[in-house]
Amino acid sequence: MPRTLLVTGASGQLGRQIVELLLARGQDHVIAATRDPSKLADLAARGAELRALDLDNGDQAAVFAGVDRALLISTDALDRPGRRLEQHQRGIAAAKAAGVGHLVYTSLIHAGSQINLLAPDHAATEAALVESGLPHTILRNNLYAENLLGSLPGAVAGGVLYSAAGAGRVAYVSRSDCARAAAAVLAGDSGASRLIDISGARAWSVDEIAALTAQISGRPVRVQQVPVAGLAAGMEAHGLPAPIAAIFASFDAATAAGEYGEASGIIDALTGAPAEGLEVVLGRAAALLGAPA
Ligand SMILES: NC(=O)c1ccc[n+]([C@@H]2O[C@H](COP(=O)([O-])OP(=O)(O)OC[C@H]3O[C@@H](n4cnc5c(N)ncnc54)[C@H](OP(=O)(O)O)[C@@H]3O)[C@@H](O)[C@H]2O)c1
Repeated sequence: MPRTLLVTGASGQLGRQIVELLLARGQDHVIAATRDPSKLADLAARGAELRALDLDNGDQAAVFAGVDRALLISTDALDRPGRRLEQHQRGIAAAKAAGVGHLVYTSLIHAGSQINLLAPDHAATEAALVESGLPHTILRNNLYAENLLGSLPGAVAGGVLYSAAGAGRVAYVSRSDCARAAAAVLAGDSGASRLIDISGARAWSVDEIAALTAQISGRPVRVQQVPVAGLAAGMEAHGLPAPIAAIFASFDAATAAGEYGEASGIIDALTGAPAEGLEVVLGRAAALLGAPA
């Protein structure tokens, strides 16, 4: 019997892909919840019900009414410490008030980290989820492979990839694979509460990433290791606000501490298809990396 599945943050890069995957399955009623439903007319045309959801404002419980299984996508509200956690707490409370049967949440790998500055929001959200008593699945996503596309074009242009990750490795996972995994879990029938690490099938060192980038771009890229504070200062010099630079630099510090290095076959296990390699993700962005056409 078709269930009713709801995805929050449905206009985000991850949320939209998940809704599209659920619609393509064609088995359940799919609700795309987003702050501005007018942006998702194409998904409505393909069968999605659109509901307005702002985790800062409004009657969120009404948005979750009649939903069997929901996915709460962590928001990008990093402007004020505590704001994002409050949003997530409202989402959990609303899902509970509405009687949602199972709530899935996109967390961060190693959410208990004392190093990654984004981890505390995720750890506190996970705690709220457990506290709620709702049957749930926590998907602890590793770093998106696509995050690298923020720094690699500059590294190609200047010939230097600055890093504070040392010999640490990251089992990068593509955003599409995170979407496939989330869609599989949301559309699955597991009722028991679970915590799943979502990582890629291979862990990469920064030296290996530089070599791969050089291969794709056809230009030399060397790695320059710098202290974490120096990495943040460099990002600030390139225009990033200090708090955001500190967050990004903390990812390298956590990498150096080994928090992201565990590769796995979880994408294959959850979706029945292997994870995309970093070669594939960066290869797709070859033009951005300055590769000849
Ligand atoms: N693992 C990683 O490396 C990594 C990297 C980047 C981000 N993330 C996390 O993963 C999430 C999804 O990634 P993404 O690539 O899809 O990010 P994105 O494209 O930047 O999307 C931001 C998301 O935040 C939602 N949002 C913002 N304010 C909201 C509010 N007031 N109420 C409800 N939702 C709100 C947006 O929903 P609507 O616009 O539809 O309302 C959208 O889904 C991000 O928000 C972030 O928490 C993880």
